[in-house]
Amino acid sequence: MSDFTSSFWSFWVITITLGGIFGCALLLWMTSRKKVEPGADNTTGHVWDEDLTEMNNPLPMWWVGLFIITIVFSLLYLVAYPGLGSYEGELKWSTRGEYESEVAKANKELEPMYAQFTAKKTEELAGDPNAMAIGERLFMNNCAQCHGSDARGSKGFPNLADADWLHGGTPEKIKETITKGRIGMMPPMAAAVGSPDDVRNVAHYVLSLSGSPHDSVRAQLGKAKFAACAACHGPDGKGNQAIGAPNLSDDIWLHGWGENAIVAMVTGGKTNQMPAQEGKLTEAQIHVLASYVWSLSHKPASAKP
Ligand code: HEC
Ligand code: HEC
Repeated sequence: MSDFTSSFWSFWVITITLGGIFGCALLLWMTSRKKVEPGADNTTGHVWDEDLTEMNNPLPMWWVGLFIITIVFSLLYLVAYPGLGSYEGELKWSTRGEYESEVAKANKELEPMYAQFTAKKTEELAGDPNAMAIGERLFMNNCAQCHGSDARGSKGFPNLADADWLHGGTPEKIKETITKGRIGMMPPMAAAVGSPDDVRNVAHYVLSLSGSPHDSVRAQLGKAKFAACAACHGPDGKGNQAIGAPNLSDDIWLHGWGENAIVAMVTGGKTNQMPAQEGKLTEAQIHVLASYVWSLSHKPASAKP
């Protein structure tokens, strides 16, 4: 438990936990020592509602015994399992460890099932309804929170079901993306472009590349400034998958369409990350998942006429 920010809270928890247990023990000891002299009729002498009296019987021994067993049990439990602040317990049990061993066990059980898939190529798997059903489930559990349940993405999260790729749409590239993750990085470019007006002009030039509505005078003025962008986006703005620079001429916008969205990109830049899955999913799972993603924008081999 490294979640404690200082050892104070660890001691705080230990104090409360042990205080509670020893408090119970103390109470038990004190009550067993204190003997109220019973009257002849074995009552405490209190009378309520005219004739209600209270018997003065000691705690039954079986009950005291249970109490002692509980106290001893809780102390032994706290030695064995985590419970005393940041102390791990002698057995070194943790929820994370249990989760990991369960995942490892499940993966081991599923290995034979995945084995039939690993031998097949992506194009083949994409035509296998069984593999695709598994791929879809993996996608829902691991990817849909960012890319959407239909894989069509949203602002900042790319659509995986179209033919437009930041990093490449071949089976190998998709697999590489999922395994290692990706970082799309565009630096702030305003200084390289010039004045805010120059930035607007270059934005209009970018809009003109996809035939989007634009001011053609501004676009003409911005054209020369696009040289600063060409290193990554290519001289014709068609992008570069090696560095994840998007095609600016296809009218598909990851970070929003229009003059203001482009000005914001150029001024502020953007760092966008796809998290690596290699620690989370097995190689076989990634293979099936990559085939599923590939299938969203490709016709599987067997479905071809
Ligand atoms: C935390 C959010 C997040 C999760 C979870 C996530 N992704 Fe991504 N993914 C992104 C972002 C953001 C990008 C874009 C990276 C960039 O801009 O270069 C991306 C990019 C991709 C790409 C590259 C798209 C292209 O056009 O080249 C693929 C393929 C992909 N993700 C597949 C997956 C799969 C499969 C999963 C599930 C295992 C997944 N992603 C889970 C955020 C996420
Ligand atoms: C160092 C490389 C680099 C340079 C230089 C660069 N960009 Fe980018 N640009 C990128 C990358 C990478 C992305 C994708 C960021 C992401 O993955 O989210 C991007 C994204 C964009 C987008 C968003 C596209 C979309 O689909 O929403 C626009 C617009 C853009 N750049 C315009 C420009 C303009 C205009 C210039 C020149 C002033 C420029 N870029 C210079 C690398 C670059």
